[in-house]
Amino acid sequence: MGQVHVLDHPLIQHKLTYIRNKETGTKEFRALVQEVSMLMAYEITRDLPLAETEVETPVARAKTRLIAGKTLTIVPVLRAGLGMLDGILNLIPAAKVGHVGLYRDPETLQPVEYYCKLPPNVEDRDVIVVDPMLATGGSAAAALSAVKARGAVRPRLMCLVAVPEGIDVVQKTHPDVDIYTAAIDEYLNDHGYIVPGLGDAGDRLYGTK
Ligand code: PRP
Ligand code: URA
Repeated sequence: MGQVHVLDHPLIQHKLTYIRNKETGTKEFRALVQEVSMLMAYEITRDLPLAETEVETPVARAKTRLIAGKTLTIVPVLRAGLGMLDGILNLIPAAKVGHVGLYRDPETLQPVEYYCKLPPNVEDRDVIVVDPMLATGGSAAAALSAVKARGAVRPRLMCLVAVPEGIDVVQKTHPDVDIYTAAIDEYLNDHGYIVPGLGDAGDRLYGTK
């Protein structure tokens, strides 16, 4: 079974408080989501493999290390996942980027896929699917299925706020997937919103409400 990692670094938790605050406006919300995403990426990449190398410093030859292994590929789920992308790329500028387009039907709450474009040879890449909200879990499960259908092996899922229901759905449909979140909230309300959550992530990022 994939593991659930709650990234409780003090800076992440501090910034998440401002993200949750309904008084936080679009500009600040967007900046904070980027900052938290960068910090989360820092935590998630802790276990990347390193390979020995050598470099000539101005003083001497040094034995040192460089990141080795698979290339990272970040896959934001459109549209709200895009709000996390630049923060991650600040830290990992050479990462490839794929996109999965999904929206949640407001009546049925079921995800509807409308777009998927991934880098080539995705089977050889370390894929991280990013979406700020893991609510019913339908969107995350569909996004993970979309990347796996195109070859991704054991993708990981990064979100800002999750609820137990959504985590259960992802763990049942994708038992191989590790989930990284900044918080696990209490429950989903009748409209499928995370409580207390942060509201509609896409609308708050793009000022569409
Ligand atoms: C939000 C969010 C997730 C989804 C989570 O997207 O970004 O993709 O809801 O809900 P779920 O776990 O119940 O599927 P939304 O469908 O509102 O689309 P948007 O990103 O275009 O705003
Ligand atoms: N999508 C959001 O943007 N927010 C929620 O609380 C649930 C799904």
